[in-house]
Amino acid sequence: MLTTLERAEAADHAAAQAMDRYVIVKSTIYTSGERDPRKPPEHPDSKGKLHLMHHDPRLPRMPDKPTLFDFFKLRFGPSIHMLQSARLAQKNGCSEKIILACLIHDISTGGFVRADHGYWAAQMLEPYVDEEVTFAVRYHQVLRFYPDEAYGYKYPDSYIRLFGPDYKPEPYLDRAHEHARKHKYYEAARLLTVNDLYSFDPNVQVELEEFTDIVGRHFKQPKEGLGFDDSPTAHMWRTINWPTRYL
Ligand SMILES: [Fe+2]
Ligand SMILES: [Fe+2]
Repeated sequence: MLTTLERAEAADHAAAQAMDRYVIVKSTIYTSGERDPRKPPEHPDSKGKLHLMHHDPRLPRMPDKPTLFDFFKLRFGPSIHMLQSARLAQKNGCSEKIILACLIHDISTGGFVRADHGYWAAQMLEPYVDEEVTFAVRYHQVLRFYPDEAYGYKYPDSYIRLFGPDYKPEPYLDRAHEHARKHKYYEAARLLTVNDLYSFDPNVQVELEEFTDIVGRHFKQPKEGLGFDDSPTAHMWRTINWPTRYL
């Protein structure tokens, strides 16, 4: 029987061996800005090596049939902000759909792409949740820039700090705001912004498992696992699972 330490060492060794065997390159989107994407990519020396087409040995391995919670635990960054937002929505008596929306609203900033994170996250989630949830997730990004006194929502102080006092949302955001205002799910998106905590409290512990039942009732977890269910957005989940495949 191997001890835990021996098992960890064996896993390290296997990962090191895999690293020797493969060339691992970054997608353009990961480096665009740091480098000019028009320049030829700087590929590492690939002599005698294969190009990675599966699991990245530097990452914890995902189960064969990954669930939403597996992504939270193995691929998304710290989720305390989303957990505390979901807890706040619960405390404020929001519906289960709004609580779920709060729990997953920033999965793109923490696990995929930051720019237009509401749109990306909504798209990832579309096959698995009610359209009210994806509307809230998509438009929370937009509505955060626009006050609504009826809900006690002010322009965030944190945005003045982050973007400067002169920042003006892009015209596409103005248009999206107008659209959302007239939409039947406006309130869902607005409630998400109201419960979207600007700063989290490091002393408040919230566990993902507190939301197991809500997720079970409102998130259609595919039996094949996220990424392997052939849904229109399965490829997005696969890319998060295996982010450095060559193709
Ligand atoms: Fe957000
Ligand atoms: Fe947020």
